[in-house]
Amino acid sequence: MSRSGDGELQRFGVSLETDLLAPFDRSIGELGYPSRSAAIRDLIRAHLIERDATTGEAQMLGTLTLVYDHHKRALSERLIDLQHDHHERVISTLHVHLDEHFCLEVLVLKGPGVRLRETADRLLSLEGVEHGQLTLTGVAKGGSRCTSRRAR
Ligand code: NI
Repeated sequence: MSRSGDGELQRFGVSLETDLLAPFDRSIGELGYPSRSAAIRDLIRAHLIERDATTGEAQMLGTLTLVYDHHKRALSERLIDLQHDHHERVISTLHVHLDEHFCLEVLVLKGPGVRLRETADRLLSLEGVEHGQLTLTGVAKGGSRCTSRRAR
Protein backbone atom coordinates (compact mmCIF):
# COMPACT_ATOMS: atom_id res chain seq x y z
CA MET A 1 0.00 0.00 0.00
CA SER A 2 2.53 2.53 -1.07
CA ARG A 3 1.53 5.97 -2.09
CA SER A 4 4.00 8.61 -3.11
CA GLY A 5 4.17 12.36 -3.44
CA ASP A 6 4.58 15.33 -1.13
CA GLY A 7 2.71 15.02 2.12
CA GLU A 8 1.20 11.64 1.37
CA LEU A 9 1.82 8.82 3.78
CA GLN A 10 3.59 5.61 2.96
CA ARG A 11 3.63 2.63 5.25
CA PHE A 12 6.58 0.30 5.48
CA GLY A 13 7.51 -2.56 7.75
CA VAL A 14 10.67 -2.55 9.85
CA SER A 15 12.17 -5.60 11.52
CA LEU A 16 14.23 -4.91 14.62
CA GLU A 17 15.68 -6.96 17.45
CA THR A 18 13.75 -6.67 20.72
CA ASP A 19 16.84 -5.57 22.61
CA LEU A 20 17.09 -2.62 20.22
CA LEU A 21 13.40 -1.79 20.05
CA ALA A 22 12.64 -1.93 23.80
CA PRO A 23 15.14 0.77 24.85
CA PHE A 24 14.12 2.83 21.81
CA ASP A 25 10.47 2.70 22.91
CA ARG A 26 11.45 3.66 26.46
CA SER A 27 13.57 6.54 25.19
CA ILE A 28 10.94 8.00 22.86
CA GLY A 29 8.34 7.58 25.62
CA GLU A 30 10.51 9.65 27.97
CA LEU A 31 10.95 12.26 25.25
CA GLY A 32 7.19 12.46 24.80
CA TYR A 33 6.81 11.13 21.29
CA PRO A 34 3.22 10.02 20.68
CA SER A 35 4.26 7.14 18.42
CA ARG A 36 7.19 5.30 16.88
CA SER A 37 6.24 6.86 13.55
CA ALA A 38 6.71 10.39 14.93
CA ALA A 39 10.11 9.48 16.40
CA ILE A 40 11.30 7.75 13.24
CA ARG A 41 10.12 10.73 11.17
CA ASP A 42 12.40 13.03 13.23
CA LEU A 43 15.32 10.60 12.94
CA ILE A 44 14.95 10.55 9.16
CA ARG A 45 14.80 14.37 9.00
CA ALA A 46 17.90 14.62 11.19
CA HIS A 47 19.68 12.16 8.91
CA LEU A 48 18.78 14.17 5.78
CA ILE A 49 19.90 17.45 7.35
CA GLU A 50 23.12 15.85 8.58
CA ARG A 51 23.77 14.60 5.07
CA ASP A 52 23.02 17.99 3.50
CA ALA A 53 25.36 19.62 6.01
CA THR A 54 28.26 17.35 5.22
CA THR A 55 27.90 16.89 1.48
CA GLY A 56 28.43 20.41 0.39
CA GLU A 57 26.25 22.79 -1.49
CA ALA A 58 22.83 22.46 0.17
CA GLN A 59 21.68 25.73 1.76
CA MET A 60 21.89 25.61 5.53
CA LEU A 61 21.29 27.99 8.39
CA GLY A 62 23.71 28.23 11.25
CA THR A 63 24.13 29.95 14.57
CA LEU A 64 27.66 30.59 15.72
CA THR A 65 28.15 31.51 19.36
CA LEU A 66 31.43 33.20 20.32
CA VAL A 67 32.74 34.25 23.72
CA TYR A 68 35.79 36.47 23.58
CA ASP A 69 37.84 38.96 25.52
CA HIS A 70 37.49 42.31 23.79
CA HIS A 71 40.66 43.57 25.53
CA LYS A 72 42.75 41.19 23.41
CA ARG A 73 44.69 43.35 21.05
CA ALA A 74 42.83 44.12 17.81
CA LEU A 75 40.50 41.16 18.29
CA SER A 76 37.25 43.14 17.95
CA GLU A 77 38.52 44.67 14.71
CA ARG A 78 39.60 41.30 13.34
CA LEU A 79 36.23 39.77 14.17
CA ILE A 80 34.42 42.61 12.42
CA ASP A 81 36.76 42.50 9.40
CA LEU A 82 36.22 38.76 9.01
CA GLN A 83 32.45 39.15 9.26
CA HIS A 84 32.58 41.80 6.52
CA ASP A 85 34.78 39.51 4.40
CA HIS A 86 32.10 36.81 4.80
CA HIS A 87 29.14 39.20 4.63
CA GLU A 88 27.22 37.02 2.14
CA ARG A 89 27.05 34.32 4.85
CA VAL A 90 26.59 36.46 7.98
CA ILE A 91 22.97 37.63 7.94
CA SER A 92 22.57 38.86 11.51
CA THR A 93 24.52 39.34 14.74
CA LEU A 94 23.70 39.81 18.40
CA HIS A 95 26.26 41.23 20.80
CA VAL A 96 26.09 41.05 24.59
CA HIS A 97 28.67 42.70 26.90
CA LEU A 98 29.02 39.99 29.57
CA ASP A 99 31.29 41.86 31.97
CA GLU A 100 34.31 44.23 31.87
CA HIS A 101 36.26 41.76 29.73
CA PHE A 102 34.05 39.32 27.93
CA CYS A 103 31.60 39.61 25.06
CA LEU A 104 29.12 37.08 23.77
CA GLU A 105 28.32 37.21 20.08
CA VAL A 106 25.74 35.14 18.23
CA LEU A 107 25.95 35.16 14.44
CA VAL A 108 23.19 33.87 12.21
CA LEU A 109 24.72 32.35 9.09
CA LYS A 110 23.21 31.22 5.80
CA GLY A 111 24.85 29.29 2.99
CA PRO A 112 26.23 25.87 2.09
CA GLY A 113 27.10 23.88 5.22
CA VAL A 114 30.75 23.45 4.32
CA ARG A 115 31.11 27.21 3.72
CA LEU A 116 29.47 28.02 7.07
CA ARG A 117 31.90 25.71 8.80
CA GLU A 118 34.78 27.52 7.07
CA THR A 119 33.51 30.88 8.31
CA ALA A 120 33.03 29.50 11.81
CA ASP A 121 36.51 27.97 11.88
CA ARG A 122 38.10 31.26 10.82
CA LEU A 123 36.35 33.14 13.62
CA LEU A 124 36.80 30.47 16.29
CA SER A 125 40.53 30.14 15.65
CA LEU A 126 41.26 33.82 16.32
CA GLU A 127 43.41 34.35 19.39
CA GLY A 128 41.28 35.63 22.25
CA VAL A 129 38.14 33.73 21.27
CA GLU A 130 37.65 31.67 24.43
CA HIS A 131 34.81 29.46 23.39
CA GLY A 132 32.40 28.97 20.56
CA GLN A 133 30.12 26.58 18.80
CA LEU A 134 28.47 26.31 15.41
CA THR A 135 25.04 24.72 15.18
CA LEU A 136 23.73 23.96 11.70
CA THR A 137 20.07 23.66 10.98
CA GLY A 138 17.79 23.49 8.00
CA VAL A 139 14.40 22.48 6.78
CA ALA A 140 14.32 18.83 5.81
CA LYS A 141 12.67 17.68 2.64
CA GLY A 142 9.25 16.15 3.18
CA GLY A 143 8.36 18.15 6.23
CA SER A 144 8.18 21.59 7.67
CA ARG A 145 9.81 20.92 11.04
CA CYS A 146 13.38 21.97 11.63
CA THR A 147 16.02 19.77 13.15
CA SER A 148 19.38 20.94 14.33
CA ARG A 149 22.74 19.39 14.89
CA ARG A 150 25.86 20.51 16.63
CA ALA A 151 28.68 20.94 14.22
CA ARG A 152 31.37 21.61 16.76
NI1 NI B 1 31.06 43.63 24.18
